[in-house]
Amino acid sequence: MIGDKKVLYSGMQATGNLTLGNYLGALKNWVTLNEEYECFYGVMDLHSLTVRQNAAEFRKRARSLYTLYVAAGLNPETNCIYFQSHVSAHAELAWLLNCFTYMGELNRMTQFKDKSAKHADNINAGLFTYPVLMAADILLYQADVVPVGVDQMQHLEITRDIAERFNHIYGDVFTIPEGYIGKSGAKIMSLQEPTKKMSKSDENANASIYLLDDTDTIIRKFKRAVTDSGSEIRYAEDKPGICNLMDIYTATTGKTKEEIEKEFDGKGYGEFKMAVGEAVVSVLKPLQDRMAELEKDKSYIDRMIKENDEKAQYFANKTLRKVQKKLGLTERIR
Ligand code: TYM
Repeated sequence: MIGDKKVLYSGMQATGNLTLGNYLGALKNWVTLNEEYECFYGVMDLHSLTVRQNAAEFRKRARSLYTLYVAAGLNPETNCIYFQSHVSAHAELAWLLNCFTYMGELNRMTQFKDKSAKHADNINAGLFTYPVLMAADILLYQADVVPVGVDQMQHLEITRDIAERFNHIYGDVFTIPEGYIGKSGAKIMSLQEPTKKMSKSDENANASIYLLDDTDTIIRKFKRAVTDSGSEIRYAEDKPGICNLMDIYTATTGKTKEEIEKEFDGKGYGEFKMAVGEAVVSVLKPLQDRMAELEKDKSYIDRMIKENDEKAQYFANKTLRKVQKKLGLTERIR
């Protein structure tokens, strides 16, 4: 708790172009929840280094992600939006927690298995201990709730296990966080292979809607989206393509599955795809306009970065000092 509010923590990696999946699975929920909680949102630039980055592009992308959080509706004056790399406590706590995490646990992580397969030439130790850094992110701020998409739930589980293990030995040091999954959009699938998650690293640009895609591109990608045999708009297991489009439509319009089935009763896939495309445009266009506005005012974003770095450091260091003391590390002499 900070004051009388529970704490919310989340973040995204500053890797690749963000997709509609990132928006509907995470960012959109952050905006809905942000009044109710004391919120911390990280630009997870340290996590991004588990794959090689071009330094100049990476710097630009991380800043753009910061601006995007603000453009999506998170006020940086009331929410602590900051860069993970600016708060050294993340890396320090990650080291300490590494000593409370088992190789066997990390070996079971599906994201590690997937990423190792994808980057077979660079299976670095950072990729393996990635979930420990994520645990440090969350536990430093004593988060009660962590809104994420389905794919991050396994990392949240290991965070809880590490925290419980530590608390069991040293007393009540960490708040045990709960995951929060939105009612719709928690797993947006590829538009080209609807049994596979929509991902920013997909090589086929038609498979993903990027948050900064222009209107024509968005509509074109939806027109090309792979659908299933048959012609009915119905939520059914044998229709993964249509289910995904319905899920996107629900997450962007608030309409239920039943309402959608009724709205498109007797209509074809083509008409439905157009409607989904337009619904997505109506959500993304205002975000893009606001992003362009914010990018003009460099000094405002600079000031927010500075103030929030200090705020994040204050809370993170409080937890780090407590952990160091519990572990018996020698206290500083002032
Ligand atoms: P990342 O950057 O891969 O994704 C950011 C958020 O977007 C969600 N997401 C999706 N949701 C629905 N459908 C999809 N297709 C989809 N793709 C991505 C993710 O679930 C996530 O919520 N390890 C994290 C970043 C992180 C973090 C943290 C998150 C680092 N530390 C602490 C929460 C708390 C990651 O790689 O997310």
